Amino acid sequence: MMTGLEGKVAIVTGGARGIGLAIATVLAERGASVVVSDVNREMAEQEAAELVAKGRQAIAVAANIALAEDVKNLVATTLSNWGRVDILVNNAGITRDGLLMRMKDEDWDAVIAVNLKGVFHCIKAVIPIMAKQRSGKIVSIGSIAGAMGNAGQANYSASKAAVIGLTKTVAREYASRGITANAVAPGFIDTAMTASLSASVREALLKEIPLARLGEPKDIANAVAFLASDQANYITGQVFHVNGGMYM
Ligand code: NAI
Repeated sequence: MMTGLEGKVAIVTGGARGIGLAIATVLAERGASVVVSDVNREMAEQEAAELVAKGRQAIAVAANIALAEDVKNLVATTLSNWGRVDILVNNAGITRDGLLMRMKDEDWDAVIAVNLKGVFHCIKAVIPIMAKQRSGKIVSIGSIAGAMGNAGQANYSASKAAVIGLTKTVAREYASRGITANAVAPGFIDTAMTASLSASVREALLKEIPLARLGEPKDIANAVAFLASDQANYITGQVFHVNGGMYM
């Protein structure tokens, strides 16, 4: 079966673990050449090497998406290896949780710098290439917290809500160049990011999820792979919620 991803070149930020690694793996399994990019060089190199060992096309490029220069280098390295960029998956993200009254300015700034400005840097760097190709798919990872809010996550939920506005604007600005932009908003997914939740918080959470389990990274990766593929050519400016029914 054709996947709509054969021969595509994809960049996945934060691709060295968790949801990003699952996305990189699914895209590579479905025939894309994948740049596993992460601020953690060692982990990115290890995961890219594992994909290659399984017969997939992958390279690792270290980049901190908060730094425009790193992102320029990421895109230039992708071009010098594979000559095009078909897919950008904005997955890298961080949390610095705390109640608003106690939230430090540094924690606000750090989350916005990665989760929002980092996404801006990446989109800005790939748009000229995708516009020239007259095709491109941008998929950004939002969050259920950006749609519902979440106590303790003023910075994070604001950054993720903002990514949705950014996505819709990019969808409008570049539709005429053959570029689509969509967001996938995960609910609570079993990764390092949610590992620190206490047993009681987990239990309370499960009561709010109709499908009664946390999501797996692969649940998100499958949605991203669809939106990044030619099967989704008529879908743009959308937010695809993948959350076990927690938010409808
Ligand atoms: P994770 O913490 O397991 O992995 C994030 C990856 O991003 C790590 O490999 C990390 O090194 C990398 N990273 C962090 N800052 C970076 C930077 N400045 N530049 C480049 N790479 C950087 O997180 P997880 O759970 O896999 O989350 C992935 C995305 O999904 C994030 O955007 C997160 O906000 C979002 N998300 C996660 C949910 C969850 O329940 N785990 C729920 C909703 C959204």
